[in-house]
Amino acid sequence: MIQGTYAILPDLPAVGGNEGVAQVIEVGSQVKSLKAGDWVIPRDAGLGTWRTEAVLAEDDVFSVPNSIPLLSAATLGVNPCTAFRMLSDFEDLRPGDSVIQNAANSGVGQAVIQIAAARGINTINIIRDRPDFTQLSDRLKAIGASHVIREESLRRPEMKELFKTCSKPKLALNGVGGKSATELLRHLQVGGSMVTYGGMSKQPVTVPVVRHHFK
Ligand SMILES: NC(=O)c1ccc[n+]([C@@H]2O[C@H](COP(=O)([O-])OP(=O)(O)OC[C@H]3O[C@@H](n4cnc5c(N)ncnc54)[C@H](OP(=O)(O)O)[C@@H]3O)[C@@H](O)[C@H]2O)c1
Repeated sequence: MIQGTYAILPDLPAVGGNEGVAQVIEVGSQVKSLKAGDWVIPRDAGLGTWRTEAVLAEDDVFSVPNSIPLLSAATLGVNPCTAFRMLSDFEDLRPGDSVIQNAANSGVGQAVIQIAAARGINTINIIRDRPDFTQLSDRLKAIGASHVIREESLRRPEMKELFKTCSKPKLALNGVGGKSATELLRHLQVGGSMVTYGGMSKQPVTVPVVRHHFK
């Protein structure tokens, strides 16, 4: 949104920030669904949460339980919902099935890992190489990642080894585009689905015809 490339752009001047949690200080006499003290999150993107106070309409927000951790409440509305819908809407995933995803350390990716793990679904998580690869890999495994793989390894024979013990993915989640997306497709099960939800590399998604037609 700040770059001006997002689909939703507010009129300027505007306050940035799509996510966050707030506490209701006071409500108007007509307000039914909220009361002072409630925790609320934005109903939609573009509310502008990078501020300390706001006067909003009742419909702009909805309440969330204040028994959940504050950071979870503040980041609940966008990425975990995206992850949940992607794991629910495209393939009928059962325990033991696999999902492959790039940008696995992103906000969306980490939500995918946790929701999938809770459902007994394996995740094959692709991240870019970095000096602290092992540390990041350990962190993702600690929240439920089944496998964490460097992007460069997707073309290597070690992937064959992995699929001796892990089922081929029914679902591929692409937040990057470009070559990374093409590489995800190589490993997808016949008849599986690739869902593109982001394009962090700013490169187009290219699909080899042979995969599109025969897989
Ligand atoms: N469609 C929807 O409803 C929906 C909802 C939520 C989010 N999104 C989209 O999902 C994407 C991720 O959002 P987020 O909030 O989860 O992001 P985030 O937490 O900021 O993470 C960004 C991720 O992108 C990776 N990345 C950045 N540049 C890259 C490049 N050139 N090549 C490969 N990977 C790259 C980063 O990897 P490194 O750590 O290696 O830099 C990191 O994993 C965004 O495009 C966002 O707009 C879409």
